[in-house]
Amino acid sequence: MEQYELEHIELLRKLAPECMVLLKSDGSFPMEAPGKIALYGSGARRTIKGGAGSGDVNVRAFVTVEQGLENAGFAITTKEWLDAYDAEWQKARKVFTSEIRDRIAREGMSAIMLGIGAVMPEPEYEIPMEGEGETAVYVLSRVSGEGSDRRVLPGDFELTQTEIRDILHLQKHYAKFLLVLNVGGVVDLTPVAEQVGNILLLSQTGMTIGDSFADVLLGRSYPSGKLASTWAVWNDYNHVGDFGEPDDTYYKEGIYVGYRYFDSADKKPVFPFGHGMSYTDFQWNTGNAEANGTEISVTAEVKNTGKLPGKEVLQLYVSVPAGKLDQPYQVLAAFGKTEELQPGESEKLTLSFDIRSIASFDTETACTILEQGDYILRLGSSSRNTEAIGIVRLDGNAVVQKLSNSGGNPGFVDWKPEAPRIPAAANLPVLTVHAAEIPQIQQVQPSIASEATELAKSLTDEELAYLCVGGFKDEGSNSFIGNAGMQVAGAAGETTSILLNRGVPNLIMADGPAGLRLAREYGVDENGIYTLDSGSLDAIAELLPAPMLAALGLANKPERHGEVFFQHCSAIPIGTALAQSWNTALCEECGDLVGREMERFRVHLWLAPALNIHRFPLCGRNFEYYSEDPLISGKMAAAITRGVQKHPGRGTTIKHYCCNNQETNRMYSNSHVSQRALREIYLKGFEIAIRESDPATVMSSYNLLNGEHTSQREDLMETILRQEWGYDGVVMSDWVTPGFGNATRKYAYACAHGSIRAGNDIMMPGGKLDHTNILSAMAAEGNPYPITRQRLEKSAARIIELAWKLGGTQDG
Ligand code: BGC
Repeated sequence: MEQYELEHIELLRKLAPECMVLLKSDGSFPMEAPGKIALYGSGARRTIKGGAGSGDVNVRAFVTVEQGLENAGFAITTKEWLDAYDAEWQKARKVFTSEIRDRIAREGMSAIMLGIGAVMPEPEYEIPMEGEGETAVYVLSRVSGEGSDRRVLPGDFELTQTEIRDILHLQKHYAKFLLVLNVGGVVDLTPVAEQVGNILLLSQTGMTIGDSFADVLLGRSYPSGKLASTWAVWNDYNHVGDFGEPDDTYYKEGIYVGYRYFDSADKKPVFPFGHGMSYTDFQWNTGNAEANGTEISVTAEVKNTGKLPGKEVLQLYVSVPAGKLDQPYQVLAAFGKTEELQPGESEKLTLSFDIRSIASFDTETACTILEQGDYILRLGSSSRNTEAIGIVRLDGNAVVQKLSNSGGNPGFVDWKPEAPRIPAAANLPVLTVHAAEIPQIQQVQPSIASEATELAKSLTDEELAYLCVGGFKDEGSNSFIGNAGMQVAGAAGETTSILLNRGVPNLIMADGPAGLRLAREYGVDENGIYTLDSGSLDAIAELLPAPMLAALGLANKPERHGEVFFQHCSAIPIGTALAQSWNTALCEECGDLVGREMERFRVHLWLAPALNIHRFPLCGRNFEYYSEDPLISGKMAAAITRGVQKHPGRGTTIKHYCCNNQETNRMYSNSHVSQRALREIYLKGFEIAIRESDPATVMSSYNLLNGEHTSQREDLMETILRQEWGYDGVVMSDWVTPGFGNATRKYAYACAHGSIRAGNDIMMPGGKLDHTNILSAMAAEGNPYPITRQRLEKSAARIIELAWKLGGTQDG
């Protein structure tokens, strides 16, 4: 291993426990020393380090739970059980793979995604559980990935009969029992949650997962994460809106997503948003609130009152007064995490927010507003464990920002609770904020450097069109998703290189978000690079029939020849796990690590972070995303972006803008969303990330929003992003390969001319058809999406500016 790999492993091993959440604890853990241990469950040996799809990172190796325990000196007494489970899994996998292969052969290209993200439900089996030792650990795993949503079935969202039986057996028969959840999202734990005394959400914390787990088990480290999304039973989520419909999905629940719903409707989740225990105990005082202009801050002293070291997270929620607009019971306004506190030690935490950040969107006036009334501040350690500590009294109505009616019309009025839970607040200290003194947020106009504009103006139409399409080889325009890179093996794509002689470098893009996704091994010969080991992509290739493999250029694996190189990247915790740390500094460190690897492997743009909202727990890509809460999503995305962009020549791509909250029919699915929910839930994280970290690029999403593809909506691309938020970076499409077109669906796929016309600057991964489409939209009358030369020049200028900024610093 090289030095950088060792350093990254050391760093990740230390960070991972912060992302783990102790859901239940009866004090039996941590253990004092390694000894005999009975290890069971699907994730014990087949540990999942991260999810599947373009978010999967191809590492040299990673440490499973079984290996981690052995590395730490445990004697695993259940090797036979683990072998027998393996055999059961292989058997089930064979059946599952052949089903998928048949379906792909039957349905063609559009079914390829099945191979990436389809979840094989856990099989049922009977294997005797006779491991020695007084301690048992059961590791339950689940995986999901892009292209498919999870299902409410045993072995996926629900537990199988086998899992329930085995977990309850262990709880009864071992003196100490820990249920470990090696999952990327919610699992319905109700059949066991009451009985089991110790539950650790290990999550999917990257390449050191097994060693980090052993550290936590032995108290050499400790879990200090909190849930960033509510864990509940499927039927208890707000089902007034639907999920997973292939063509039209109605977000009728409006702003009542996640804890905003559970708290307002007073519904008890299994584990609430923000929940997480510790090996030790903490207490904090009620906190001292202050208002300074629009800035509200609460300072509280947190003390470790237990016997072991730990870190605590304090969460500040606000109950916004309902008036013209209905309001959820509370919204998260700020959070903070202590440093490590030794027993008896304390730390002062100050949580601050600008009152304008909790303004609501009033569709009638197209403004964000703060209504007159009492804003109750609640401080606590989960959404269900808060105490009202003060009131901010706003003495009048205030307009925070004049915006626009953008995003279209969903065709319904948002749901709101009939009898909402009323926030109570008596005898609390009051801070007064004068509405008349609240400054309105003004729009900032983005600018493009004049040299870039001049160069764009000097280019031919043909050249401009090349710039607005990802670099492609003329033959074979069906670049495969996640694998269209030509200069860096396993990169997802790149910008054109046809202007190299005019001083415009081309930019290389590689996926994330759980690290940098590249091929593991490649060779170089007289024709350029060829891939030898593309990692997880090879596994997908096994599912494809021969003609499809050929069409995608994956047919014949080359023999090793020429010079051979390796690209060993590190897998960091998945997005959801990072959010569970509630630690923006930790996210920034992970971004810094990714930035270093981007420099090493000459990647300019990281196609991450991904910050779509956990609208429902079944979205197949939730593990890549952070949270059901836009503040957490935005703060984490901003922090990881700062980490990456510390490195000159490296940028992030925040994705998928926007309302890409399901995978079912993801390229043609129409999200119907009200303007208020759009602004307050689905766009807010993007806005925070842009304002706080200025990411180099934004990726539009596959789906439609209120009847039009997001990349084809000028109001999303220009009005909101550029005019309202002042964003001056580049917007790229998601990997829209017309080869995946599915004529049988209600909506067509997004097209290059429609997207460029709306202000989506570049079509990725790019192909001949995109180039042709753009040129013909400039030329032909009657084209549905006519494009002017000025429009193309503007996008080209943005791309040139970015290429100069990032591409000027080639290294590695
Ligand atoms: C995914 C993106 C990813 C792109 C390139 C698409 O299928 O939706 O998140 O960045 O492929 O691999």
